Amino acid sequence: MRKHFVKILDFTPSEALNIIKRAKEMKENNYRSDLLKNKTILMIFEKASTRTRLSFDVAIHQLGGDIIFMTPNESQLGRSEPLKDTARVVSRYCDGMVVRTFSEDKILELIKYGSVPVVNALTDQGHPCQVMCDVLTMYERTPKLDEIKVAWIGDGNNMANSMIEAAILFNFELHLACPKGFTPDATLLEKAKQAKAKIFLTDKPEEAIKDADYVHTDVWASMGQEHEQKARELSFKGYCVDNRLMSLAKKDAKFMHCLPAHRGEEVSEEVFESPNSIVFDQAENRLHVQKAILEWCFTK
Ligand code: CP
Ligand code: NVA
Repeated sequence: MRKHFVKILDFTPSEALNIIKRAKEMKENNYRSDLLKNKTILMIFEKASTRTRLSFDVAIHQLGGDIIFMTPNESQLGRSEPLKDTARVVSRYCDGMVVRTFSEDKILELIKYGSVPVVNALTDQGHPCQVMCDVLTMYERTPKLDEIKVAWIGDGNNMANSMIEAAILFNFELHLACPKGFTPDATLLEKAKQAKAKIFLTDKPEEAIKDADYVHTDVWASMGQEHEQKARELSFKGYCVDNRLMSLAKKDAKFMHCLPAHRGEEVSEEVFESPNSIVFDQAENRLHVQKAILEWCFTK
């Protein structure tokens, strides 16, 4: 059976925790293997990337595999070759796909028509690899995840959606502050309610951040929304994670951001560069989590 990683809720709670523990172990042991020896993984990226692209490339090499990187610009994808045809062609050459794209439906189409494992490297709806990495970054500091309070300040975007899935699965308390009109996926919020997850939504950053252990934010205009930048700056007024907001969180609260960050917008320079900012530990953990996810996909 092929194993794909599309979203965090695809995992059972114990599977998800095992991936976090395994990534931590791999990090501690500077893990290398030949799990992907003689395998080639195609990375299809329809959006820009630094961390995801590099960490997957390095992770695949550390597991003994090869990569090919492809964008729509220099492939027939950019000239409207149907994705379902691409999926079948790729599956004849490659052993897996890591895909960054717009709609999650495109990932599902590659899975449907392809015959190799597919990993979601970000869509408009979610960023599951990043949020698994964020969970590892919190777990390293507070292994009792069900006792932490996490604040999400900003856009109810792909990151926020995956964070909600993580809160359901890992049972941490999640307080989201999003302006009206920029709230996370409604179906997902309903699912969280049904699951009796500890998830709370407000439009007041001061309320969400109160006594938080971890404070997360992300850009106000995600890739593909650049034309909304100016309008969004107005809607997100008061949402900049600065010293004033951070002073409402727990004394030692950590600041987290998936990066890239826009200083002076969603986070102040002071907070970003403060000793409580753990954004580069987060970035490093992409590599270790990527390895654990790939191992899960390529092990029966
Ligand atoms: N956090 C993250 O996914 O960064 P990139 O867009 O650089 O991959
Ligand atoms: N929400 C951001 C995350 C980038 C890693 C985006 O989709 O552009």
